[in-house]
Amino acid sequence: MAATDWSKLTFSYTKTSTILYCKFKDGVWGEVESHTDDNILLSSFAGVLHYSIECFEGLKAFRGKDGNVRLFRPEENAKRMQNSAKFLGIPAPDTELFISMCRQIVKENLDFLPPYGTGASLYLRPTLIGYNPQLGVQSSKEAMFMMLCSPVGAYTGGNLEPCNAAIARNYDRAATFGTGRYKLGGNYAASLYSLNIAHSKGYKAVLYLDPATHTLIDEFNSSNFFAIKGNKYITPLSDTILPSITNKSLETVAADLGMEVERRPVTVEELATFEEAGECGTAVVITPISYIDDKPSLESEEYTRYRFTETECGPKSLRLYKTITGIQYGEIEDKFGWCIFVD
Ligand code: PLP
Ligand code: COI
Repeated sequence: MAATDWSKLTFSYTKTSTILYCKFKDGVWGEVESHTDDNILLSSFAGVLHYSIECFEGLKAFRGKDGNVRLFRPEENAKRMQNSAKFLGIPAPDTELFISMCRQIVKENLDFLPPYGTGASLYLRPTLIGYNPQLGVQSSKEAMFMMLCSPVGAYTGGNLEPCNAAIARNYDRAATFGTGRYKLGGNYAASLYSLNIAHSKGYKAVLYLDPATHTLIDEFNSSNFFAIKGNKYITPLSDTILPSITNKSLETVAADLGMEVERRPVTVEELATFEEAGECGTAVVITPISYIDDKPSLESEEYTRYRFTETECGPKSLRLYKTITGIQYGEIEDKFGWCIFVD
């Protein structure tokens, strides 16, 4: 990519040099194949196309200050994919295969790894699909595991640019005893209708509530929720949200910085008591929340507004952001041993 392009990157697809994949058939994973063509050949009856037998992951590779390339906690993504695959009843790559394909895709696409200092990174999208042709509703026997990548910049606006959100009282993303805790493509499909309404009303993100009572905060459409109150880092405890690796890391970082960490049910009314609120996740990193509107329905023009900031990221969120990105870009000692080197 041209050197001038890195700073303009958004979170969107760029064709890179290669994609990798391997197939599970007759009880074993086959050879890892590398292809320059990012189209794949698939039976029109593959389970992924009819019954959404698919799960995916998201992680990033960073070009560090010292020139080294780091992957952030890939074994956590491997474990989460194994959990999602178990729920779908399909074979999953073991952690060794997962991480070796993470390393390989980065090495084969170094031209697309943004240089240090651009604030951009190479996003890895491990994807697992039900592969064999099938008609009955059942878990696929064969699977295809793909390792894809794309250089990315900020998810919404610029890095640390505050984003607004609306609470979805009349839509759920996941059911009470359903799929919210797994990273299934179907969860994202289920969020699109409400997300599109929110976008049409000028909101960038949707904040979902717990589907059982609609009184507790769950998570955003593509990230977890966190808040700052005094010296506390507060984040929801819920069975219907994705166990975010970024959030888990931020809990550790916050405690290490001397903050109290609370993972517990968080009510909507409590929003009024928070000094800072944010989204956290691989794609959004930390994105501060400017305001959250609580509406009787997403379509409604009425709202109760909870405001956290106009334009600036709050000081505690900023400190957390600088610490986690500092570890990822090799600027701060990785004392928790989270990063692995690609070479
Ligand atoms: N919640 C949802 C719905 C997500 O899509 C993501 C993104 O992966 C997250 C939370 C954050 O998870 P992680 O920090 O592991 O990327
Ligand atoms: C991520 O943060 O990696 C995600 O998967 C969120 C979104 C882009 C789906």
